[in-house]
Amino acid sequence: MNTREMFKRAVAGGYAIPAFNFNTMEQMQAIVQAAVETKSPVIMQVSKGARNYANAQILRYMAEGAVAYAKELGCEHPEIVLHLDHGDSFELCKDCIDMGFSSVMIDGSHLPYEENIALAKKVVDYAHQFDVTVEAELGVLAGVEDEVSAAESHYTKPEEVIDFSTRTGCDSLAISIGTSHGAHKFTPAQCTLVNGVLVPPPLAFDILHEIEKKLPGFPIVLHGSSSVPMEEVETINKFGGHLEAAIGIPEEQLREASKSAVCKINIDSDSRLAMTAAVRKHLAEHPGDFDPRQYLKPARENMKKMYIHKIVNVLGSDGKLAQC
Ligand code: 13P
Repeated sequence: MNTREMFKRAVAGGYAIPAFNFNTMEQMQAIVQAAVETKSPVIMQVSKGARNYANAQILRYMAEGAVAYAKELGCEHPEIVLHLDHGDSFELCKDCIDMGFSSVMIDGSHLPYEENIALAKKVVDYAHQFDVTVEAELGVLAGVEDEVSAAESHYTKPEEVIDFSTRTGCDSLAISIGTSHGAHKFTPAQCTLVNGVLVPPPLAFDILHEIEKKLPGFPIVLHGSSSVPMEEVETINKFGGHLEAAIGIPEEQLREASKSAVCKINIDSDSRLAMTAAVRKHLAEHPGDFDPRQYLKPARENMKKMYIHKIVNVLGSDGKLAQC
C-alpha cells in the first residue's frame, strides 16, 4: 500500500510509522515478525545502495514475500509499504515505480531550491499516475547513508515549506532539525556529560513546530533517527569491534517528535548495530561455528527485539493496523 492513509492516521493519532531499511533476508524477516507481533503498520525501505547490493529484482520480490509472510504469521491485513529511500534521480524513482514500489523518496535537498522543486514535481507527476506516494526533502542532513553524504547540515527553513509542498505536490516532507545519518551523529565535543553519559544537543523542536503551524496536518518525515544503543556498541567493542564515539538521537526526543506531525521515522544504523553485535558475540563465543544460520539466527532475533522496542516504546505505532 502507499503511505497516504497510513500517514493521515498517524498524524491524527500522534504516533509515527517506522521506516526500517533492509538489504538482507534476515532484516526483512525480523521487520515483518516485529510488525506482525505488535500489529503495527511498517515501511520497508531500500536505498540505491541496497539495490546495488542485493539486486533490485530480488528486493522487490522480497517485499512481495514480506506481505505473504505477514499473512502466514496470522496478520490478515498487513500494512506494508515498499519505499525507495533517497532516490537521487527521476530515472531511479521511475524504475522503482515501474517495478511496483508503493512509495518513493526523491532527495533533491542538495540542489538549489528551484531545481529541488522541479525534480520533485517531475517525480510526483509521474508517481501519482500510479497512486505511488512521494516524499521530498528540504534542508540538508549531515552524515553518510549508503550513497548519500553531506559534510554539513542546514536546517529546513520554515518560510519555504508552504511554497515547496504546494509547487511540488509531494505527499510528505523530510526535514532537517538536527538528526543525521550514520552511527556517529555528534562528536563528544558537541555533547554534554550527564551522569557519565554523553548527551547530544536537542533537536530543533522550535523549527518543527513552526513547520507544523505553516502546514497543519501535513506528514513530516525524520531521517537519521537511530539512537545508537550503547549496549550494542559495547558488545561490538567487547567482541573485537572498534567503534569509537558512536552517538545517536536520544529516544525521548524521538518519542516527543512522534507525537507531532512527524509520522515517519527512518531507522537503519540501529539495525546494523544490532546485527553486528549479535554476530560478533556469537562468533567470539562459538569459534568453531561456520554455518551462517548459527550466527544469523541470533542476529535476526536481536534485530527483531530492537524493532519491537522502537515500535512499542518510541514510535507508538503498535496496535495501529486499521484491521487486524
Ligand atoms: P540512521 O543512520 O540514523 O539509521 O538513519 C537512516 C535513514 O535516515 C535512512 O534514510
